[in-house]
Amino acid sequence: MPISVGIEVLRKASKENYAVGAFNFNNMETLQAIIEAASELNAPVIVEASEGALKYAGARMLYNMVQALANQTTVPVVLHLDHGKDFRLIMYALRAGFTSVMIDASSFPFEENVRQTKRIVDIAHAMGVSVEAELGTLKGIEDTVSVEERDATLVDPKKAVAFVEATGIDYLAPAVGTSHGAFKYKGESKIDYDRIKKVKELTKIPLVLHGASGVPPSIVERAERFGARLQGAKGVNDDVLREAVNCGINKVNMDTDLRIATVGAIREILATHPEEIDPRKILGPARAAMKEVVKHRINLLGSAGKALL
Ligand code: G3H
Ligand code: 13P
Ligand code: ZN
Repeated sequence: MPISVGIEVLRKASKENYAVGAFNFNNMETLQAIIEAASELNAPVIVEASEGALKYAGARMLYNMVQALANQTTVPVVLHLDHGKDFRLIMYALRAGFTSVMIDASSFPFEENVRQTKRIVDIAHAMGVSVEAELGTLKGIEDTVSVEERDATLVDPKKAVAFVEATGIDYLAPAVGTSHGAFKYKGESKIDYDRIKKVKELTKIPLVLHGASGVPPSIVERAERFGARLQGAKGVNDDVLREAVNCGINKVNMDTDLRIATVGAIREILATHPEEIDPRKILGPARAAMKEVVKHRINLLGSAGKALL
């Protein structure tokens, strides 16, 4: 089917209390892994490209790959721009055919975040494209010791309502205690569930969880066994993610897990088959490893079997 529009997929997820996996990609193998996994589970899926991905591969190239694979499957596939910070790059993604964009002006003061976000909403909505924006700072909550510090870092639910009303965004990424990358927590994974519930109750729109990779020990150990240095890596474990979805999360962003799965598989092949020079024999196992990771996460989110919009 044609590439789907973001809000059409996420409106249903919000109404029926499940989440759609949003996986970052930069190349063909990663995209195939994501779409094959979603197709086998009959799940809607979001494939997302960062500004770095657009610079690496080109927006039109990414769009064409997604269009080719979306046309071969019956599950809805959304093409989303992740963390758009540069106005021109967001326009570049819109021109290329992305069906969802994120404007990330969360590092600016509230009023400036509203101004920049509203400008993108006006343009994207005129093109039939959905918009995500972010409020608060992505940071592990165990780092923020006091209540005051936590309030200063994480999303303020009252501000979230004002933000949604002032900008007209389709979905919101509230900072609730996760962070990007492989080293999210020193201790156990934590998320401020009450804050998610409050934001959901007040805004009533789909919510997005960034920094949601699980960093599962199985893929970390494989990568480490073959030389990767990932000591202390920790992510959002399965139980914590499931509870975040129960509280109102509908889009779950993951990149790091696919990266670790990729390097683990590639390192193993290179170490155990030093004579191998065929890239397909090296990238093929990486694709298979990513597909397993994606399937595991989709099964947790409750979106398997939800392909019919
Ligand atoms: O949130 C960031 C994503 O993991 C994308 O990372 O900017 O290195 O492509 P990147
Ligand atoms: P992870 O680093 O946890 O995979 O998060 C990715 C993300 O939030 C992309 O926007
Ligand atoms: Zn993110």
